[in-house]
Amino acid sequence: MTRGRDAGAAGAPVAVIGVDGRPLAPRAAALLAGATLVVGAARHLDALPVPDRAARHVLGDVTAALEATGRHEGRAVVLASGDPGFFGIVRLLRERGLRVDVEPAVSSVAAAFARAGHSWDDAVVVSAHGRDPRRAVNACRALPKVAVLTAPGCGPAEIAGALGDLPRVLVVAERLGAPGERVTTCTPDEAAARTWADPNVLLVLAADASPGRGWASPRRLTPSRWGLPEESYEHRDSMISKAEVRALALAHLGPGLGDLVWDLGCGSGSVAVECARFGAAVVAVDRDPAQCERARRNARDHGVELSVVRGDAPACLPDLPDPDAVFAGGGGPAVVAAAAARGARSVVAALAAVDRVAPVRDALRAASYEVGGAALTASRFGGLPDGSTRLVAANPVFLVWGHR
Ligand SMILES: C[S@@+](CC[C@H](N)C(=O)[O-])C[C@H]1O[C@@H](n2cnc3c(N)ncnc32)[C@H](O)[C@@H]1O
Repeated sequence: MTRGRDAGAAGAPVAVIGVDGRPLAPRAAALLAGATLVVGAARHLDALPVPDRAARHVLGDVTAALEATGRHEGRAVVLASGDPGFFGIVRLLRERGLRVDVEPAVSSVAAAFARAGHSWDDAVVVSAHGRDPRRAVNACRALPKVAVLTAPGCGPAEIAGALGDLPRVLVVAERLGAPGERVTTCTPDEAAARTWADPNVLLVLAADASPGRGWASPRRLTPSRWGLPEESYEHRDSMISKAEVRALALAHLGPGLGDLVWDLGCGSGSVAVECARFGAAVVAVDRDPAQCERARRNARDHGVELSVVRGDAPACLPDLPDPDAVFAGGGGPAVVAAAAARGARSVVAALAAVDRVAPVRDALRAASYEVGGAALTASRFGGLPDGSTRLVAANPVFLVWGHR
């Protein structure tokens, strides 16, 4: 197939050339040689043979660079790191209606995994570049193999600091393909205590970071089933959210990649485990050490990771990172009010006592949530001696939810 890019003709596409420190491939070199405008970071403009006659636009201000590229009537070339179609400038150029002719290099993420000697089809790649890093951090808390695109001021030290004592090996790949390239394997504590050269990519790896061969990248992050039967969990004296209640609670919590969920009064940890099965990071809180241990065991049995905190809510809540969603399975209006004050998008409370329903509803309303609720009275299939089915009533439970 010819790619028909008459770069000098009116309306010619913008040539976007990936840079990874290696010499340009022949076609990319020819595109650069024909350029009349070259846009790129100073380090890329300095490292490559930009023709003398070409105007240079140093990045910087991306908006100004896009405008300059769009206005240019000659042969515009944009130099960008790695694969410009991967968390890169191709999206921005296309959003402006510009046609592009991309010559990618090796992405920094692919290079970092290669230097570390790992496969990466089973990794999740997240970006903390130019955005709030908390979702990237939550993905690192929840998943065994994550690559983070970083930014100055939001790099390995800051992300490692936010991970706390999470059991992870970190690989920091600095200045890949450039003079001073360095790849360092360390603990989160070590990473948090150092300064790192930009640009860099951070790999966050659990001890068992390779879940095996998959067919999609990233692999499916949602479970094949949720609202699992109580028998799927170790629990004490039936102190576990019933499957029907848990399913509706999950629907309102909406846990997913990048989220942090609090499960307050976690008991067996069944809600926490199911949120983690959706790819969310989860902090599970219970005042009873035996329940904390049980939640840990249930997490292990379901192959997910929970941060289990032994503590009394609401007293322990100020020490926890901000949640996206909160499930209050234990504790009444005071716990719900304290959790709501932390700005989660959804708060869900399960209540056995009718007396608590109105105060919990009011606590959520007072915190500006749109409130709803239901009394759930499941009648489950049960057996009769002749093999026919009867209904077995489960205890009614109130579920109160708030969204904003
Ligand atoms: C906007 S993203 C661009 C990613 C790029 N498209 C790629 O495929 O590598 C910018 C981030 O990529 C990473 N990065 C780019 N070049 C790098 C390099 N030479 N060494 C390490 N990380 C790099 C850094 O995390 C940087 O903050």
